[in-house]
Amino acid sequence: FSAFLTDSFGRQHSYLRISLTEKCNLRCQYCMPEEGVPLTPKADLLTTEEILTLARLFVKEGIDKIRLTGGEPLIRPDVVDIVARLHQLEGLRTIGITTNGINLARLLPQLQKAGLSAINISLDTLVPAKFEFIVRRKGFHKVMEGIHKAIELGYSPVKVNCVVMRGLNEDELLDFVALTEGLPLDVRFIEYMPFDGNRWNFKKMVSYKEMLDTLRQQWPELEKLPEEESSTAKAFKIPGFRGQVSFITSMSEHFCGTCNRLRITADGNLKVCLFGNSEVSLRDHLRAGASEEELRRVIGAAVGRKKRQHAGMFSIAQMKNRPMILIGG
Ligand code: GTP
Ligand code: 5AD
Ligand code: SF4
Repeated sequence: FSAFLTDSFGRQHSYLRISLTEKCNLRCQYCMPEEGVPLTPKADLLTTEEILTLARLFVKEGIDKIRLTGGEPLIRPDVVDIVARLHQLEGLRTIGITTNGINLARLLPQLQKAGLSAINISLDTLVPAKFEFIVRRKGFHKVMEGIHKAIELGYSPVKVNCVVMRGLNEDELLDFVALTEGLPLDVRFIEYMPFDGNRWNFKKMVSYKEMLDTLRQQWPELEKLPEEESSTAKAFKIPGFRGQVSFITSMSEHFCGTCNRLRITADGNLKVCLFGNSEVSLRDHLRAGASEEELRRVIGAAVGRKKRQHAGMFSIAQMKNRPMILIGG
């Protein structure tokens, strides 16, 4: 495994998240302020060729999984082409996408042909009117259609990301779990995390423990599944159900010790931690004509500065970071 992608705590990074755009067709409350965020001028965003150049380099160094994020990755006009070209990279085993699901049903057949292997869909409520309140746009039925299309085309499990917020959707946990009885879904309840402009506070966060208690009251037979290496999620299953439920406990029980993730933002910064604000512009190095060797050195130095773990929820709620929409999760 490449030394460049191993940090000072011995963590080897094999999973790269690439943000394809800063734009989105929804306006989720937990991701961006109502008025939106200032966008980077187009000339400063990575071109498709630059994305592929970087992807090729990272895969050569040991990245075997790439997840495309955003903004909303499916609004990038050449997303199918990007997947197809990533699919050519030898050594890349998984190409995933995290999407809000709005354009999914329409694009999925082409994406699948191009080599897309994993799909995570954000859905925070099963109540259409509440959906419109949380995401500040319409589209609930489109997302449901996307989820069913993903199942129909054989993705298994289809992961559904549900950010749980007190007073908003914490009353729907059991309804989400009930979906897993007949469908091969992995419903993932995510602890609400602070980012710039999302008005996070501790009281709005529903912790893993609290969610688990709620589930156990209804289903005492809930069973913990073995931990997957470097997973963000703790997985559970109700015996006899087709799908499973998981928890992403970034706040109450972080999983930084086994972190294997790096990120490239749409404007070309390498971000070694979701909650680390030290970033380095790979775009500038590329455009200055840096050699592969120089790029490797820049990447290695950034990975080398990665902290052991995030600073704790109250500190990260204070720190300057990007809004979620400009990171991609
Ligand atoms: P898989 O590749 O299917 O395991 O998905 P994932 O959990 O890596 O990615 P996804 O885009 O579905 O993100 C789900 C949630 O996990 C989002 O809230 C992300 O912000 C969060 N998440 C993803 N990666 C990290 C990470 O490295 N650290 C932390 N703290 N949270 C993360
Ligand atoms: N806290 C937790 N998860 C979030 N996501 C977006 N914003 C937040 C937040 N503040 C999730 C979305 C998406 C994934 C990329 O990140 O639900 O599925
Ligand atoms: Fe990795 Fe940072 Fe997420 Fe921790 S908070 S798991 S170090 S990206």
